[in-house]
Amino acid sequence: MQERQSIHGSWASRWTFILAATGSSVGLGNIWKFPYITGENGGGAFVLVYLACIAAVGIPIFMAEVVVGRRGRQSPIHSMRDVALEAGRDPRWSWLGWMGALAGFMIFAFYSVVSGWVLAYVFHTLNGTFNGAGSEAVGAVFDGMLGDPTTLTLWHTIFVAMVMVVLSRGISKGLEQAIRIMMPSLFVLVLLLLMYALTTGSFGRGVEFLFAADFSKLSWNSVLVALGHAFFTLSLGMGAMMVYGSYMPKNASIAGTAMIVAGLDTLVALAAGMAIFPLVFANQLDPGAGPGLMFVTLPVAFGGMPGGQVFGFLFFLMVSIAAWSSAVSLMEPAVAWMVERFPVSRNQACLVLGAGGWVLGLGALASFNIGADWLLFGMNFFDFLDFVTANLLLPLGGLLTALFVGWWLPARISRDEMSRDNAAGYSLWLLLVRFIAPVAVLVVFVANLYSKFAA
Ligand code: TRP
Repeated sequence: MQERQSIHGSWASRWTFILAATGSSVGLGNIWKFPYITGENGGGAFVLVYLACIAAVGIPIFMAEVVVGRRGRQSPIHSMRDVALEAGRDPRWSWLGWMGALAGFMIFAFYSVVSGWVLAYVFHTLNGTFNGAGSEAVGAVFDGMLGDPTTLTLWHTIFVAMVMVVLSRGISKGLEQAIRIMMPSLFVLVLLLLMYALTTGSFGRGVEFLFAADFSKLSWNSVLVALGHAFFTLSLGMGAMMVYGSYMPKNASIAGTAMIVAGLDTLVALAAGMAIFPLVFANQLDPGAGPGLMFVTLPVAFGGMPGGQVFGFLFFLMVSIAAWSSAVSLMEPAVAWMVERFPVSRNQACLVLGAGGWVLGLGALASFNIGADWLLFGMNFFDFLDFVTANLLLPLGGLLTALFVGWWLPARISRDEMSRDNAAGYSLWLLLVRFIAPVAVLVVFVANLYSKFAA
């Protein structure tokens, strides 16, 4: 069969795919979420479980998504349909693509709200708002911001516009150009902040906290958190890697690429931890502070240290870049679908979908003020979006992708896409994607629901 071509263009090289996929995976998940869940779950033992989840579940499912995307060369909705047809299967597998696009929308809504906070903090650090401030003062700034819908809407709107501008320019002129500037800056900033953490004097304690495994601190729930986070941080389960894979050159090794992306993602998460925890310990703050770790604890640390204003500014700049390059991948599946399906330009598709995501985001940001008591299943709208995506739609999407590629897709197709990878690697991957990944996800999925609704 003649190879399909994407109408949206393609990455200039395998390395551009790697940078774009790394841009998608490295985000708030690495810098905001990973350190605080590590702090809440006791440190080293949790990190070890998380690494195992990345290797045994994350990488195989990542590869499965790229196999389908590169075979189909379209948005996940149309790729799933056509690859299923090519495999002699039911075209209604396209529903998997629909579910992913929906999940992307829902994540986008709350992701852009939190990213808005980060943008606000770029300005706070630039203005020196936190210089010499204690926990209470920083907490007051944070709470004050959350309680003010106008300010939140302003930052949320700016962030949505930033994302849509990149998306509207298309693959080569938009995503690829942006990634070429953002990713090197991101790596430089991570290194700078690591060096800063080295000078604080508590570097050793931070590293010990991250790497000394004490399994007595590990609960069953921590294992669930670790696996769920492996999905979120690698952008799996909603078609982001599928759509990026559809722009990937045919001659690139899928396994090699997946391992590089997962490796870079993990490095940034660990580096963020090594940059953050020394500051926390040097200032006698609490590593288990939860979601406020980045927005309250860390500014207190920066506020009390020499050079803290500059490095605080660089830190939040780094987080904005990371969040920006992630958020584009949340919307690309829907944008690509709309351009394929209707006679609209990319600009028009971005305008319509961006407006939709923006409105949904307004609902999410209202959860912190005027809509605090609009409850769905006992959760405010922000928590609802987070819960439904991270705990339901992403694991379900990942599970179905693994099952489709492992069991429904004939080996001749997956083998063909993986022709750059050696036979032993292929067999190992098939084993992981057929058995290990589905079983692990199923266990997490059921346990998550159980802990939420039955306990
Ligand atoms: N991986 C990103 C982060 O860690 C978030 C993200 C982007 C994502 N695209 C995704 C999560 C798709 C799940 C699915 O911040």
